[in-house]
Amino acid sequence: MASATATAIEPLFVLLLLLPVALHLSPLMASEPVPATWPEQFHSVLFINRSGSLQKVDLWYDWPNGRNFNIIQHQLGVLSYDLEWDNGTSFYYTLPPFNHTCKVVHFDVGILRPNWLDGATFLGVKNVDNFLCNVWEKADFITYYEHVLTHTPVMWVFSSGMVAHVMTFEVGAVLDDPNWQAPVYCFTDKDGTSHLLEPSLHDLSHGRTLIRGIPNTAHA
Ligand SMILES: *[C@@H]1O[C@H](CO)[C@@H](O)[C@H](O)[C@H]1NC(C)=O
Ligand SMILES: *[C@@H]1O[C@H](CO)[C@@H](O)[C@H](O)[C@H]1NC(C)=O
Ligand SMILES: *[C@@H]1O[C@H](CO)[C@@H](O)[C@H](O)[C@H]1NC(C)=O
Repeated sequence: MASATATAIEPLFVLLLLLPVALHLSPLMASEPVPATWPEQFHSVLFINRSGSLQKVDLWYDWPNGRNFNIIQHQLGVLSYDLEWDNGTSFYYTLPPFNHTCKVVHFDVGILRPNWLDGATFLGVKNVDNFLCNVWEKADFITYYEHVLTHTPVMWVFSSGMVAHVMTFEVGAVLDDPNWQAPVYCFTDKDGTSHLLEPSLHDLSHGRTLIRGIPNTAHA
């Protein structure tokens, strides 16, 4: 009697097991991971190694306000500011106690859209900085490592060899408005330090900044 029941149930189990296959669920589940869309606002501390020269960067990404800031502490050196507006204008400057320098550059691209990683090519899974990461390549320009479990970025590598390690990633953190004001000497060229410059190929091809110069194939 018991064996008769078992044989009656078995075909049902087989049917349940095969159902996902019949509905083509398996290929869906096996599809490649996609990178998380960037939060609209975040603060991240990055450690960057650029050909052996080290920097600590405070990155303030602020998409709703159309602005992005890289505050760059060169190891035992100058603190420099790279303030980028979505209208294409970037201000590169230093503040006292360092020299009053400012360079204004106009780019034809804005800051990165939160979905700038859309369409990136999945390269697989790799352990970097002791985190298991999904890895993508975008436009032969950047390799992007995202933690498999939390979807937080862990590392970026530019084709120039510049490596950025993500030390903190505070979603929703916003830098107060007064900090986004470039110094007055960016708006005068009395002392000859401020000029409106076209971006050089060097700026674009060497990942001078984290946010500009990456081909923007995704549009918001
Ligand atoms: C920085 O990168 C260079 C290679 O470009 C490497 O030799 C060096 O060990 C790295 N330094 C650190 C602190 O990771
Ligand atoms: C872009 O916006 C910034 C900040 O408002 C401003 O200082 C700059 O002049 C603007 N650039 C252009 C080309 O309008
Ligand atoms: C500041 O400017 C002076 C004079 O041009 C120069 O000698 C010095 O190296 C500069 N200091 C820094 C930190 O850039």
